[in-house]
Amino acid sequence: MAARAGREAPILTTDSAISQIPASADATFLPGPVLLLGAPGVGKGTQAQLLMAEFGIPQISTGDILRENIAKGTELGKAAKELMDQGQLVPDQIVNDMVQGRLTSDDVHAGYILDGFPRTLAQATWLDTHLPIFRETPPLVAISIRVDESELLRRITGRRICPVCKRIYNVYSNPPANDMLCDIDQTPLQHRSDDTEAAFTQRMKAYESLTAPVIEHYRASNRFREVDGDAPVEEVAQSIVAALKSLRESNS
Ligand code: AP5
Repeated sequence: MAARAGREAPILTTDSAISQIPASADATFLPGPVLLLGAPGVGKGTQAQLLMAEFGIPQISTGDILRENIAKGTELGKAAKELMDQGQLVPDQIVNDMVQGRLTSDDVHAGYILDGFPRTLAQATWLDTHLPIFRETPPLVAISIRVDESELLRRITGRRICPVCKRIYNVYSNPPANDMLCDIDQTPLQHRSDDTEAAFTQRMKAYESLTAPVIEHYRASNRFREVDGDAPVEEVAQSIVAALKSLRESNS
């Protein structure tokens, strides 16, 4: 299924994967504001790109915004780079301000996918408090993607990204057709500087101590579902869309 007519469809993932997302029985279905939560490498970015293409709502990835700042050499980027390369979190105030700026943009009216935020209880509390101030939108819903840690290291070290179109590859499970060039624009793929085994170990520590409590925070609400991320990309996408529809029905 192609992205819906009249909505922008960024070329960020495979057409075959998009085609596997089930058509909504209700053609007017929109997921609204969605949080994608989960450990490093569970597939948040991959799934956010699919949802963005399918529903025409933007992906807001705090990791991507930080990496753009690093690439442009901004003060924010300089402050964030060392922390990111060490697998540590960037201070709450910095990311909260970034998200606040992004959520006041015009393209979030129909909904959005927050990928990688909130990651601490302080960020979650900030979002709960501030969200109604930014927009009158349907209630935010949270999807946690779960994958065993033993699989995550392989996903992280095998990941390659196109710096131009941001398409995500994996040398083991989803390689490009031609040797390390993006299938879409033939740009040489890049390896993230924090996708090392050492940084991954630190990222998992940060996830377990600071982000796992965020998942419990949303699990305790009626706006939460967990999906199995240890399945082909298309199956995970189908589970997420089914969970979103169920959440919207139970919160309408
Ligand atoms: P961020 O960029 O958010 O990284 P992350 O949360 O660690 O998540 P990843 O991007 O590594 O993984 P993903 O879940 O998106 O997986 P992907 O789809 O790419 O953050 C980076 C850093 O920025 C943080 O460490 C921190 O320093 C800072 N930061 C960001 N947000 C912050 C915040 N809110 N507060 C403070 N600091 C913040 O997939 C991974 C690989 O697996 C790919 O190769 C993909 O092809 C493959 N794959 C995906 N799905 C499947 C599947 N179903 N089967 C097989 N392979 C798959």
